[in-house]
Amino acid sequence: MLMGSLFWRFVSGDWQGLPQGRIANCLLGVCYRVSVSQQDIDVAHMRAALREASKAVGLTSPNPPVGCVIAKGRKILAKGHHRYAGGPHAEIEAIQCLTAKALKGSTAYVTLEPCSSKGKTPPCVNAIREAGIGRVVYGSEDPNPKNKGKAARILRRHGILSQGGVLLRPCDEIIRPWRKFITTGMPWVIAKAAMSLDGRLTRPGNEGQWLSSTASRKDAGKLRGEVDAILIGANTLRDDNPALTLRDPAALRRGKQQPLRVVLTRKGRLPKRAQVFTDSHCDRTLVYKAKSLRVVLKDLAAKHGCASVMIEGGGKLLGDAFSRGLVDEACLYIAPIFCGLAGVPLVGTSLSSSKGLLDVSVKRIGQDLRIRGLVDQAKVGDAS
Ligand SMILES: NC(=O)c1ccc[n+]([C@@H]2O[C@H](COP(=O)([O-])OP(=O)(O)OC[C@H]3O[C@@H](n4cnc5c(N)ncnc54)[C@H](OP(=O)(O)O)[C@@H]3O)[C@@H](O)[C@H]2O)c1
Repeated sequence: MLMGSLFWRFVSGDWQGLPQGRIANCLLGVCYRVSVSQQDIDVAHMRAALREASKAVGLTSPNPPVGCVIAKGRKILAKGHHRYAGGPHAEIEAIQCLTAKALKGSTAYVTLEPCSSKGKTPPCVNAIREAGIGRVVYGSEDPNPKNKGKAARILRRHGILSQGGVLLRPCDEIIRPWRKFITTGMPWVIAKAAMSLDGRLTRPGNEGQWLSSTASRKDAGKLRGEVDAILIGANTLRDDNPALTLRDPAALRRGKQQPLRVVLTRKGRLPKRAQVFTDSHCDRTLVYKAKSLRVVLKDLAAKHGCASVMIEGGGKLLGDAFSRGLVDEACLYIAPIFCGLAGVPLVGTSLSSSKGLLDVSVKRIGQDLRIRGLVDQAKVGDAS
């Protein structure tokens, strides 16, 4: 009661008769501490762990992007994220920053349930136990059957408290591509294209290659930093001779390696002098001849560890992907231009039913619009 009234006088500016300066600050601190619950603290630290995880997106396949912070009370002591497959997991990165004294009785916040099986590195639950961490808070349950739901049991056996499901939705979203990869053996597929208002991928005649603005192309370039491979159809290679390289400085600084460049062909007559066969990343180019898209995707996942791929056209390949239900997400840049019937259509085939998008985000980039959303696999598109 007394504390409440003092606090109220303090925050409402009624200083008369109240101690000022350091004592007043102290009072504010006490009141703040009383009002912040453990749940608020957990959520705030999980947000910090998510920020760490976002640094790992695109770097870790065939492993998931994971972030971790270690804290005591409201104070974050260390942060970590998984940087590359085979490297230390996020928990280990954070643990390695701290002394035994600092770790004792601390809480680890991890975006994904800590692993309990040995992969390229030992199980993280062992490291947590050995470090003397007293409590573990995680977001998503690990969908990998080797680990799924096991961490809590193991930790409990060693007297370590654990709690899952904190900020579940964003934690699930960040591992969405990897969840598909680990549970189905297929990569997450993003269809990306720049298109005209009338749904065309190309301009009439010899007007040139680009439909969207430089700013849209820069934005699209960042997407390459999230994926493990970029797929194109043979005509796109023949017509555009694209480089398909990652040029986004932020992604390159994070250590992202060049995505694989994958060309699909049936006939096989490909230009030998094309950039993808002759530039300094030519060892990152794969050609699949007369293989179905499904087989190509499966092979990229199984043999090359690709958890996410992006199809960058053209219309025949995108049409094939949409008609076979192989697209998970679409990212389309719509330019304010009409190109007419002679242009290549975005979906270059008939569909047995329309496809709708879920969780749609619309962003204006200069004069262009970017529409990004998840393909609704269950329902046909709803025009309402
Ligand atoms: N606006 C944009 O964002 C954008 C992006 C990319 C491309 N484009 C434009 O799109 C045009 C090309 O589009 P397009 O529809 O003509 O062709 P495309 O989809 O680029 O290529 C079609 C060719 O790819 C091969 N192919 C496609 N699906 C295959 C599959 N499932 N399995 C095996 N091979 C497969 C076949 O190669 P073979 O012929 O060797 O049998 C097929 O003829 C280009 O002019 C380019 O400028 C625009």
